[in-house]
Amino acid sequence: MKAILQDEYGSADVLRYMEIPVPVVGDDEVLVRVRAAGVDPGVWHYMTGLPTAGRLGLGLRRPRVPVRGSDVAGVVEAVGRNVRKFKAGDEVFGVAASGSYAEFAKAKENRLVPKPDGVSFEQAAATPVSGMTALQGLRDRGRVEEGQRVLVFGAAGGIGHMIVQLARGYGAEVTGVARESKLDFVRSLGASTEVTGPYDLIMDTAGNRPIKELRPLLTPSGTLVIVGGEGGKGRFLGGFERSLRAYAMSPLIRQRLKPVMSLPKLADLEALARFLADGTLRPVIDRTFALDAAPDAIRYLNSGAARGKVVVTVTPA
Ligand SMILES: NC(=O)c1ccc[n+]([C@@H]2O[C@H](COP(=O)([O-])OP(=O)(O)OC[C@H]3O[C@@H](n4cnc5c(N)ncnc54)[C@H](OP(=O)(O)O)[C@@H]3O)[C@@H](O)[C@H]2O)c1
Repeated sequence: MKAILQDEYGSADVLRYMEIPVPVVGDDEVLVRVRAAGVDPGVWHYMTGLPTAGRLGLGLRRPRVPVRGSDVAGVVEAVGRNVRKFKAGDEVFGVAASGSYAEFAKAKENRLVPKPDGVSFEQAAATPVSGMTALQGLRDRGRVEEGQRVLVFGAAGGIGHMIVQLARGYGAEVTGVARESKLDFVRSLGASTEVTGPYDLIMDTAGNRPIKELRPLLTPSGTLVIVGGEGGKGRFLGGFERSLRAYAMSPLIRQRLKPVMSLPKLADLEALARFLADGTLRPVIDRTFALDAAPDAIRYLNSGAARGKVVVTVTPA
């Protein structure tokens, strides 16, 4: 099969489009013929090894590793002998165990869910990592409630635009912050772009704004959920240093400061599938790139210009 591979850390220039063997599935795994694979900043971190592994000079775990694209949507090609939920021909999406910038990817049975009818492969592939982060951040860390005022930084981004949609689905009143050229897009999602605090909940997905600039926008008992941290100055921890500060400060103040570290969970993938099916969540695909142009997809996302999600598509043979 054709796949995008890397054998060293670096920019998207290190990626190569090559022929490799189709992954062999284990007993609990599913082989998916990939139709679409999502792109998110995590792919860039794995590719560059930043902020930590690449800088410490740690090698890649194997000599030649498919770049970490884990969001996948496609059609089941084959299943391991313990797999009960899926059969060949089923349309699925979820989190792959092998790189999804490839014609085939494998995934654990409990990391896939059926793709709802009427949802495209591109939209399904855009959903797992960004959607689970949005959901876990908003519902579990932010404990969003109906009628709350929610402010979203990075509201036009992959995670941010899903937070706007989900928060509205929970009955919150949402305001979004983004660069000027994306404000129309943010308004098209149903958010206001006039920042008039205070807010019950701030969801920060964009960059590394200091906590002391965000707290005055919160009510005295409001919650700040820290999702992103790009551009952090920390040499080895990058944006994570802000999260450590939040943990240290939180017990001393009334406002709640909550970093989020999203984890793949079957129940959350199922919840996202329901939100896709009922229209609460409608991932917006800014651009798609063919498999051999996956390096351009990563460059484009990294440029910061995207509105919504960037997706790699794989044409069925
Ligand atoms: N906590 C977790 O578990 C978790 C999981 C997945 C991803 N993440 C992180 O969450 C963040 C958002 O992910 P995403 O998929 O939404 O990314 P995205 O699609 O690239 O959107 C992020 C938005 O943030 C703004 N931005 C990007 N870089 C910035 C910088 N250096 N300074 C200020 N603003 C910047 C841009 O919006 P404007 O230019 O319009 O402001 C961009 O639209 C990333 O940092 C990602 O690594 C965290």
